[in-house]
Amino acid sequence: MVTTRRDLFFEARTAIPERNAAFEARELLLRALSISKDEYYLRPSLPVTPEEEARFRALLARRLEGTPLAYLLGEWDFYGRTFTVTPDVLIPRPETEELVEEARCFLTGRENVLDLCTGSGCVGITLALELPELSMTLGDVSEPALAVARENARRYPAANVRILRDDALAPSEDRYDMIVCNPPYVALSDPLADEVARREPALALFGGEDGMDFFRAILRYRLSLLPSGGRIVFECGETQSRKVAHIMETFGARAIRIRTDLSGKGRIVSGERP
Ligand SMILES: C[S@@+](CC[C@H](N)C(=O)[O-])C[C@H]1O[C@@H](n2cnc3c(N)ncnc32)[C@H](O)[C@@H]1O
Repeated sequence: MVTTRRDLFFEARTAIPERNAAFEARELLLRALSISKDEYYLRPSLPVTPEEEARFRALLARRLEGTPLAYLLGEWDFYGRTFTVTPDVLIPRPETEELVEEARCFLTGRENVLDLCTGSGCVGITLALELPELSMTLGDVSEPALAVARENARRYPAANVRILRDDALAPSEDRYDMIVCNPPYVALSDPLADEVARREPALALFGGEDGMDFFRAILRYRLSLLPSGGRIVFECGETQSRKVAHIMETFGARAIRIRTDLSGKGRIVSGERP
């Protein structure tokens, strides 16, 4: 009996224990067969070759043992573009699109901006593409993450982007008009989904005992380097916004703003240098 594209799709949809199993099954199939969505829907009853079936089964097996779909596909969508991702970087999250939105509220277009803790570079590259007059710097302490950011900068070439190693926990002398940052902010005691804890880089997740180390260090070392009115825009965990706002106040920031997501949770906190 021949195995068709559709047979493989149904097999995976049944096996994957996720709410969006149909989406995941289709994405794995398209990847294994190297075909587009349109090609699949035009000819779902086409038989697959033994090689295609083997590739598909290998991908499905890795998905079922917990590898996130984004790492299997090697790319993930963010703010309407597709970014390269590897297990060296955090998978871009939809809530981080709010970080881009909030930064845009304060940018007029010609500022010198640092995306600190850049990971895949999705935040900074998006801002650089949306506002091509910006001077954008992407910084991360992880060389493997910087390699992914470089790959994404090649994927979306923009003249206004540079990439460098930058340790957010250390003093700095570099001056920017704005810092955007989605730092590691998970506290040691925070519960984490198994797939996140086991598969995404620990360096991208944990922000010290109470999850606040990066907020404190970045404010301590970098707020005073901004020009008056220059802003730091942070993403934080869904229960952390008040605490981050308080830390901002303690370090002397003013005009502090908490942006809530669609479910009313404060995820983005920003403040400016007086
Ligand atoms: C939560 S991820 C954010 C990635 C990306 N900006 C995003 O929003 O998808 C945090 C990033 O911080 C980086 N990181 C960890 N420690 C750091 C440090 N001391 N200095 C700079 N970056 C650091 C990690 O490598 C990781 O890429």
